[in-house]
Amino acid sequence: MFASPQTVPAIVLDVGSRTTKAGFAGADLPQSLFPSIVGSYISEGGSLEGTPAKPLANTVFAGYENLLGSAERVRFLELRTAFDDDGIIQDWAAYEGLLDYTFHQLRASPEEYALLLVEASHNPKRPREELCQVLFEKYGVPAVYFGRSAALACVAAGRHTGVVLDCGASGVTATPVVEGNVMKQAILRSRVAGGNALTRAAAELLGGFDAVRPAYAFRRRALGRGTNKRDAADPEAATEELAAAASTDGSSSSEEADDRVDLIGGRTPDTESAASVAEGRMEFRIEPLDVHGVTRSYDEYARIEVVEDFKHHVCCVNREPSSVEDVAEDGTASNAVSWETRKADDEGLAGQPADPDIPPIRYELPDGTLVSIGAERYRPAEILFKTLPHARTIKEDRPFLAYIRERERGPSSSKGLAGMVADTIQRCEGAQHREMYAGVILTGGSSVLPGLSDRLQTELYFYHSRSKIHAAANPMERKYMAWTGGSILATFMDFQQNWFSRAEYLESGVSLVQKRCP
Ligand SMILES: Nc1ncnc2c1ncn2[C@@H]1O[C@H](COP(=O)(O)OP(=O)(O)OP(=O)(O)O)[C@@H](O)[C@H]1O
Ligand SMILES: [Mg+2]
Repeated sequence: MFASPQTVPAIVLDVGSRTTKAGFAGADLPQSLFPSIVGSYISEGGSLEGTPAKPLANTVFAGYENLLGSAERVRFLELRTAFDDDGIIQDWAAYEGLLDYTFHQLRASPEEYALLLVEASHNPKRPREELCQVLFEKYGVPAVYFGRSAALACVAAGRHTGVVLDCGASGVTATPVVEGNVMKQAILRSRVAGGNALTRAAAELLGGFDAVRPAYAFRRRALGRGTNKRDAADPEAATEELAAAASTDGSSSSEEADDRVDLIGGRTPDTESAASVAEGRMEFRIEPLDVHGVTRSYDEYARIEVVEDFKHHVCCVNREPSSVEDVAEDGTASNAVSWETRKADDEGLAGQPADPDIPPIRYELPDGTLVSIGAERYRPAEILFKTLPHARTIKEDRPFLAYIRERERGPSSSKGLAGMVADTIQRCEGAQHREMYAGVILTGGSSVLPGLSDRLQTELYFYHSRSKIHAAANPMERKYMAWTGGSILATFMDFQQNWFSRAEYLESGVSLVQKRCP
């Protein structure tokens, strides 16, 4: 903690297109993380029959606990995002749902805290002003400040000049920062290399999203531990089995608990590792659930959640560029090992022998399918190191008109993340290049893919021998650098004069925010 008693009490909020990070200024990490997706109930048959969704009420729900729950709750729940493809706000009701949930989560009254908003470095002016109005008029916040995420990541990294490579969900953005100022005209962004694209590529390894069983569509009924770890005569195991048998009569309270449906099948991401699946697994039976009225958006999100967890636990980056190319191109090269699955009650893992150099790891999907995956787990991340079409800011209001479609090649595309960093630097003054190469700051949720930092360092070296990647060793710190930078900035005494206050808003109008927050 680095809060000073003289500073304004503040909340720092980074609403990403996938994850919202919120907490009090002065903390090292955000206290609250939740998905940036909201739900509202639609009339029966609405979007299911392809007709536009009709919200039954204006109520917008956010947060896992409101988007999960009993089968009854999941029915007719339409999910939506507040953002367009570049992470710019387009649905204000959805965004306000996230704001409401943030204050609720932090148990904070908006009138009592200044709000430091982390905004995408490429955020145009208009949504900023609109947001300001909402915050002052509707929420009554006393003061706001908009911090560009790259500038804030630099604060967290303790650097004034560098290039921030933000590997988020909607895309990757390379932003040069000089003496704390974002060089807007030199920002490059690619939608191809974001976490969402990686999730789609990871889904291919599982046979596509359609092949994934969403967690709402079944329930796991625990039967006790597998006999591979304990003898059936073991009295403890026998007791567990008896208890499990008793619970199948449909009358116990655990039956009610089982009726609860969630997006990831009762698993807690980041706590159950792929390795833990291999030993001492609980035996369970999968029972299909006939849940009527699940909207397309909920179904889609539920499938994405399953693949995201798979991606987080299985995918990684090959440190060696050359050998990976072989895997990436066709998957049939010598070090590519195909994946095999089995249902929990099958005999065993079938399939080809694993490559001894890349031992396969096993991962259990929520429905009990075991996946054994070797070199192919390197494949999704290869999209980060191929030709990346990217866009540059050409106009304040429509920053990505110049977006180049995936298949196009040309001057607005570069060879992978390293090339993107090099192109961004090239767009800045020559005298700054050396310092920029020496300060490449890696951040964003997708930046924690194992091996990414090393591979990037290797490839960047070919562009500049003095290049140096700054990547926090702690994955949480690396992911949430922009939030942490905002948290630090809001507690600086020198910074306090930069808040755009409600009084100033009432006196001078909303456009003053552009001057206050460069
Ligand atoms: N351990 C992990 N391994 C791989 N990817 C991860 C991991 N943890 C999070 N991610 C990915 O990071 C992405 C979310 O990152 P982040 O929170 O930086 O995005 P965001 O700020 O919500 O989106 P954006 O900046 O594009 O608006 C998701 O695609 C998620 O799958
Ligand atoms: Mg982000």
